Amino acid sequence: MIWRPFTQEKTAPPPVKIKSGAGAYLFSESGEKYVDMISSWFVNVHGHAHPEIAAAVCDQAKTLEHVIFTKFSHDPAEKLVDGLKQILPKMLDRYFFSDNGSTSVEIAAKMAYQYFQNIGEKTRNIFLSLNGGYHGDTFGAMSLSGADSIYHSMFSPLFFKTVTIDVPEYYDGVTGIEQKENEIIEKLDRKLNEIGDRICALVVEPLLQGAFGMRLYRAQFLEKLLNKVREFGILVIFDEVMTGFHRTGKMFALEYIHSVPDFVCLSKGLTGGFLPLALTVTSEKIYDAFLSDYKKKAFLHGHSYTANPIACAAACKSLEILRRPEVINRISEISAFHKNHVFFNVAKRRSIGVVTAFDASSEEEANFITDKAWENGLFLRPLGKTVYLFPPYCVSNEDLKRTYDVINGYLGERAL
Ligand SMILES: Cc1ncc(COP(=O)(O)O)c(C=O)c1O
Repeated sequence: MIWRPFTQEKTAPPPVKIKSGAGAYLFSESGEKYVDMISSWFVNVHGHAHPEIAAAVCDQAKTLEHVIFTKFSHDPAEKLVDGLKQILPKMLDRYFFSDNGSTSVEIAAKMAYQYFQNIGEKTRNIFLSLNGGYHGDTFGAMSLSGADSIYHSMFSPLFFKTVTIDVPEYYDGVTGIEQKENEIIEKLDRKLNEIGDRICALVVEPLLQGAFGMRLYRAQFLEKLLNKVREFGILVIFDEVMTGFHRTGKMFALEYIHSVPDFVCLSKGLTGGFLPLALTVTSEKIYDAFLSDYKKKAFLHGHSYTANPIACAAACKSLEILRRPEVINRISEISAFHKNHVFFNVAKRRSIGVVTAFDASSEEEANFITDKAWENGLFLRPLGKTVYLFPPYCVSNEDLKRTYDVINGYLGERAL
């Protein structure tokens, strides 16, 4: 029998068996059709079973399905790196493959720590992270995510040491945001004056904290934060596992600021949602610190499916599609759609790129709203009391409008 992720199996209803997917739609075995309004955990970019990606996967499977990525390299991996080099900042020039979002962050954290070990700054063993971050479910990723989350609190006695800072939450109608941001930076400054030389890296989900509840903060804050930590020689890790590939309206959230992080973690949308693949991208400066006559100074880390050729082929095709003018155009249209539509009587409305969210009055209400959506053929999944839309780029305006109408149909009637 199957044991499902993130599921209290005692109380959860049995799973709905999905037979096929096409575009934004999922089709169940019993003949129902659902719009996948959360891109199946943020991975699906161009819609389900995209024929061009499916063909690329099929061709690659017939040519080379997998090969150990130490002695060997292959075209799909090299082509993918070439493609990404054209859209990531030039100074991020070293690409380390793995196979899921959590490991891409683990790798960045391990590299940051080992970088300082290798250059002789041996006391830098603390990480800095944002309150409410989510970086995955492996131990390193959990430590970086902080102990507060329902997903991770059970394991907190086993975490390595992190310092977390508050997030100046941004939403429609928020007041005094600049003051809140400055207060957080001032508090951080005091902390860094105490222990700044013990911290090896800051890790953030840039601008949008996903799994915590689609929480937004401003680019101005992120820029200030980076400037502050850099004063203390701290490295910066951007976890773009969820924000990458145009979710925030730009190819990467890092494009909203001027500073360039030392590491960028990519996964989820990387293959268009077809196959597990991840990358930790860093600079020549970091890479150079691992070059030595001593094997121990190398980055001795890897996964069996590192740079799987079929996954790389899917990623190359997904990237090619993503750069087409009509796709970029559609992303702008979805962003504009969110800007021009509102959910009634809700708290903390917020949107960035194709993502929009609001807070219901309680977790129960968020569940009620998403259940209502489900009855209307719309698949949404709340995060605590947050209801959010995170559609694939092929979603139609009709389906978006129907989603707003169904949710507003309930919200318009209920008292706050
Ligand atoms: C920002 C972020 N980082 C890391 C992860 C972990 O990715 P994975 O589930 O592929 O391990 C997630 C997953 O939701 C995420 O949203």
